[in-house]
Amino acid sequence: MDKFVIKGPCVLKGQVLISGSKNAALPILASTILFDKPVVIKNLPRVRDINTMLNLLRSLGSKIEFFDNRKKVRISKTKKPKHFASYSLLKTMRAGILVLGPLVAKYHKSITSFPGGCVLNGNSGRPIDLHLKALQKLGMKYEIKKGYIYAKSKGKLRGKNIKFPSISVGASQHLIISSVISDGTTTLQGVATEPEVVDLINFLNSAGANIKWVGKRACQIVGVNSLNETSYTIMGDRIENGTFCVAATLTKGNLLIKGFDPKIIKTELELLKKTGAKIKTIKDEIHIKGPQKIKKINNLVTKEYGGFPTDLAPQFMVLLCKANGRSSITENIFKSRFMHAMELQRLGAKISINNSKATIEGNTNFIGAEVMSSDLRASAALILAGISAKGTTVVSRVYHCDRGYEKIENKLKKIGAKIKRLN
Ligand code: EPZ
Repeated sequence: MDKFVIKGPCVLKGQVLISGSKNAALPILASTILFDKPVVIKNLPRVRDINTMLNLLRSLGSKIEFFDNRKKVRISKTKKPKHFASYSLLKTMRAGILVLGPLVAKYHKSITSFPGGCVLNGNSGRPIDLHLKALQKLGMKYEIKKGYIYAKSKGKLRGKNIKFPSISVGASQHLIISSVISDGTTTLQGVATEPEVVDLINFLNSAGANIKWVGKRACQIVGVNSLNETSYTIMGDRIENGTFCVAATLTKGNLLIKGFDPKIIKTELELLKKTGAKIKTIKDEIHIKGPQKIKKINNLVTKEYGGFPTDLAPQFMVLLCKANGRSSITENIFKSRFMHAMELQRLGAKISINNSKATIEGNTNFIGAEVMSSDLRASAALILAGISAKGTTVVSRVYHCDRGYEKIENKLKKIGAKIKRLN
């Protein structure tokens, strides 16, 4: 298992180019199951979850051709599509479940394993009840045997009005994809409005789907018979972007971050300004300078889009460890997303957790130590802490990081971090 060895503290200066968004690319790739004609997808991030999704598509009968150093793919159908999505491919990646709906929509049957993914919800796991209940409303029938969902429908799925009882990014994406070639009109209410959901809709509409927003959290999908050939560029990764913005703020750094529309992360940039960062934005560039003294934030609360994202809370926790007083973070999306707090304590952080609230004493001088990543964003937080720590930090289990950050050590080295990968 690879490890990162980081020698700190480092000041990060220079330019960073943000990669394509993993969480936008995954549902877009899953939705290619609906197509008979070839699809070209550009700006794919070269991360492990994308490879897993491409392998899954290949196992389902898609032909994948790579271009432009694997950042661009052409996906077309072979003559023998399959309907079996195996445990070996789904066990490491939550988004694998997104093939279930399109398989049923297109071929009216599927055998799909329950998915894996980051453990963020304690004993509740990562449920898929919202996905399954909504797909049933479209006419999918299923039974569960030996960890697999055996699903089928009598012909096409049928459009319905569906109101999600709570907001889920994945369930919203899954139902949008599954309704595109269904019979009639589907109206979804309580839809997640994350930019990755918008990117999926833009992609599907670019191929002739008929999806529109009919309210702040409502989408109408009029079923079409088939989708056209299309070529689409995936949006930049807002969480990678946010991670580098935190890195600049944390290290008194000075970064020019390119390849991303700053308007999409207005909330995060406002928060960083509150901590003292100086930020200028132009078109698809962010120029960010870290302050001499980081200011605390009283109560940072994770929320659905528009609010502060749960996927950036671990990185902000590191920043608040170095702020000029006590801060807190309340996690509203997942139940147990504070595993990194224990590891940060090894580096000297003073954090106490009470249910969904973490209280972070500021003014920490991190001292290097050996730490272990527990999930994708936790690994980013530990790397950031290592960069600002005095001495050597060794971060193990970096396979979590490789699932979602494209060559993070190369990007960090270029801007002055002393980080190397040990195999
Ligand atoms: C997506 O996960 C992202 N993953 C996550 O990013 C992100 O943290 C999350 O959205 C929230 O923004 C991908 O896009 C691949 P949800 P998803 O369904 O879709 C509960 C990262 O680090 N829920 O919006 O799985 C659920 O347990 C990852 O890149 C149910 O109860 O998140 C959670 O508490 C980690 N039943 C809440 O809803 C369901 O059927 C929100 O989850 C589905 C979800």
